[in-house]
Amino acid sequence: MTTIATIVGARPQFIKCAPVSRELRKTFDEILIHTGQHYDYNMSQAFFDELNIPEPDFNLEIGSGNHGEQTGKILIELEKVLLQIKPDLVLIYGDTNSTMAGALVAAKLQIPVAHVEAGLRSFNRKMPEEINRIVADSLSNYLFTPTQTAVNHLLNEGYRDQIHLVGDVMYDAFLYNIRIAEKSEKLKQLAVRSKQYYLATVHRPQNTDDPKILSALLHSLEELNLPTLFPIHPRTRNLMKQFGIMVNNPQLRLIEPVGYLDMLALEKHARLILTDSGGVQKEAYFAGVPCLVLRPETEWVELVEHGWAKLIPNLRDFQRIPTEIANFVDFHRQNTCIFGDGNASRKIAEILGLYDPSKNDHIL
Ligand code: UD1
Ligand code: UDP
Repeated sequence: MTTIATIVGARPQFIKCAPVSRELRKTFDEILIHTGQHYDYNMSQAFFDELNIPEPDFNLEIGSGNHGEQTGKILIELEKVLLQIKPDLVLIYGDTNSTMAGALVAAKLQIPVAHVEAGLRSFNRKMPEEINRIVADSLSNYLFTPTQTAVNHLLNEGYRDQIHLVGDVMYDAFLYNIRIAEKSEKLKQLAVRSKQYYLATVHRPQNTDDPKILSALLHSLEELNLPTLFPIHPRTRNLMKQFGIMVNNPQLRLIEPVGYLDMLALEKHARLILTDSGGVQKEAYFAGVPCLVLRPETEWVELVEHGWAKLIPNLRDFQRIPTEIANFVDFHRQNTCIFGDGNASRKIAEILGLYDPSKNDHIL
C-alpha cells in the first residue's frame, strides 16, 4: 500500500486536511505529522477532537519563533521522521512555514511532493506566505489548485503537467460541516441574534506588527453600528498586550478563538464579515455573507470580481470601514461556483491513486 506522509502545523491546515484524510484513508496508508507550529488547545487539538481528525503519528513540537528559527527547526526534526518512515509521497497544505519546510525536506530526500492549494499568489513578496507558496509550488510534483486563477498563475510561471484543478478542499469541509454547525449554541452563549452583528478576525503581520496600524484598525472596529465579535488570534492578542493597546468600547467583543463548528455558525449568521484571513474570506462566500477584506490585495480575486468581497486598498484607510460597510452590505449578489463542486478531496485521492511508487519517475 502506498504510504503518504501528511504535514500539518497551523489551524487552517487541520481544517483542510480533515476531508482529504477521510478520502485518503480509504486506499492509502496515511501518516500524519504535526509540526507543532500551532499548539494552544484552541488553535490545534480542538480541531482534531471536533473534526475527528486522526491523532498525529508524530508531533515535532516546534512551537513559535522567528521565520528562520521556526522553519529551521521543522527541517531538522521532519527530516529525521521522513528518514525513519520513508513515505512514498509527502502531502502539504497551503502556505505556512510548515508547508514550505515540508516541501524542502521531502524534495531533498527525493520524495515526491503533492501541494494542496497550489498556485495562489498575492504578488506581494512582503508576505511570508507568498515566499512559502512559491517555494512549495516549485518543489511539488502534484499541484492541486482550487481555482482557475491559480491554474493561470502556474501556467504563467511555466508549470504544465503537474497542475490538477480539483477545487477547494475548504469547500468540501464547509459542506460536510455546515449542517452540524446548525446545532452550535455559540450565538445564544454570546447573546447575539442572526444578522445583528459583525464578525471580524485579524492576524496578518501587516495588520498586527505595527502598533499604529493595529490600534487604528481596532479603533475603527469599535466604531461600527452593530456589535462586532472578534475571536482573537494569539498573535494579535500577544501584540496588543505588548503594545499596550486596549479596547474600551463594549461594541467590539474580544473572545477566545472558537472551534470550527462555532466559527461556521458565527459566519453564517453574521451581517457582514471583516477579515484578513484567507480561509475566512472563502467561508464568508460559502455562507453567502459579504466580506470586507482588511488587506489591499487578495489571493482569492474571484470573490472581489463576483462582488462578494471588497478590499481595503490602503492600510491607512481603516477609518473608512464604517462607510465601506454602508456602501457594500446590501448589494444583491449572485450565487456562483468559484471553488469547484465540493469533491476536491475525492479528486485528490483519485489522482494520487494513479501514482506508482515502483516507477520512480517522479523527480522533477
Ligand atoms: C501562521 C501562518 C499564516 C497562517 C496562520 C493561520 C506562517 C509564516 N504563518 O501565522 O500563514 O495564516 O498561521 O492562523 O506560517 N501563538 C500562540 N499560540 C499558538 C500559535 C501561535 O500563542 O498556538 C502566537 C505566538 O506568539 C507566535 C504567534 O502567535 O509567535 C505567531 O504564530 P506563527 O505560527 O508564527 O504565525 P501565525 O501568525 O499564527
Ligand atoms: N477559525 C476557527 N476559529 C476562529 C477563527 C478561525 O475555527 O476563531 C477557522 C476558520 O473558520 C477557517 C480557518 O480557521 O476555517 C482560517 O484560519 P486562519 O484565519 O487562522 O488562517 P488563514 O486561512 O488566513 O491561513
